[in-house]
Amino acid sequence: MAILVCGGAGYIGSHAVHQLVERGEDVVIIDNLQTGHRGALNPAAKFYEGDIRDPKALDKVFMENRIEAVVHFAANSLVGESVEKPLLYFNNNVYGMQVLLEAMVRHHVGAIVFSSTAAVYGEPKRIPILEDDETNPTNPYGETKRTMEKMMKWVSRANGIRYVSLRYFNAAGALEDGSIGEAHTTETHLIPLILQVPLGKRDHITVFGTDYATPDGTCLRDYIHVIDLADAHLLAIDYLRKGGESDVFNLGNGHGFSVREMIETAKNVTGKAIKVEYGGRRAGDPAQLIASSEKARKVLGWNPHYADVAKIIGTAWTWHKKHPNGYAD
Ligand code: UFG
Repeated sequence: MAILVCGGAGYIGSHAVHQLVERGEDVVIIDNLQTGHRGALNPAAKFYEGDIRDPKALDKVFMENRIEAVVHFAANSLVGESVEKPLLYFNNNVYGMQVLLEAMVRHHVGAIVFSSTAAVYGEPKRIPILEDDETNPTNPYGETKRTMEKMMKWVSRANGIRYVSLRYFNAAGALEDGSIGEAHTTETHLIPLILQVPLGKRDHITVFGTDYATPDGTCLRDYIHVIDLADAHLLAIDYLRKGGESDVFNLGNGHGFSVREMIETAKNVTGKAIKVEYGGRRAGDPAQLIASSEKARKVLGWNPHYADVAKIIGTAWTWHKKHPNGYAD
């Protein structure tokens, strides 16, 4: 039986495929390569170029392979873009989930591991954030992910599909050998933007806001290594294989690092000067997002290995140095 990875050519999807293949799983990927990269595809996985919103494409995959479970990464994931183009996000994310769940029901596939986000919480009422805290997304991206979770909940009750939803905090880093990593056409994430300065691709990094109620005035985030995230998907598959009930888990390190701390750490890791400018707040950024991942540790047995942000940034640096133009290199 195989694991179907939707969005296996994307950043987190490609790392999950790597870990699945390393463990000896049979992996099938479907990806429309809209934001994913051909160069990120794992040669050991069977690849279908197709869109999850196309029921015929999904029927072909489900009929040609014996799929045991789905791991679903195929979605748009930029907060700012989602505010500008909410309907794009509702179409690709929410409608995509509908077509995928319909195909799973049609083909009697009973398990799904879903890529969710800290953005489902919105502005947190307490830190660290727990899974049963209020969800009140402040942007369409978070709203679509929360809606997708709700769709799985109701479908699980009606059709018996069991799910695990993994709410990632700030995904970062790359496979240690630098063969796969983070490559977005429009880059908005802090670590790749910081590293563009020592790479000579950007003059400076702008800090968005220095007047937050945090120790140094800049936002605190919980950075979690992409391989630790990937491993949580393998544990979630094991959990569902053992008959585990549908559930939701936060994935983070449980420590907040400020934007200033991240820049200082990047200077140490790269050994290069990084010019910094200070700007105003970016709309919609909460002051702090820090996870409690106790539930994932307890129930899934998850034990993240990259607690040190210098190590996380180090793996990103190895990737970006090897591939300054992403998968174009
Ligand atoms: N930041 C800067 N300058 C930049 C880019 C980012 O100061 O040039 C700051 C942001 O203001 C934020 C922090 O760096 O405080 C991290 O920003 P990212 O864009 O890297 O990540 P976010 O915390 O905004 O986003 C993450 C995930 C999203 C998820 C979101 C939940 O990447 O998928 O958390 O709010 F939706």
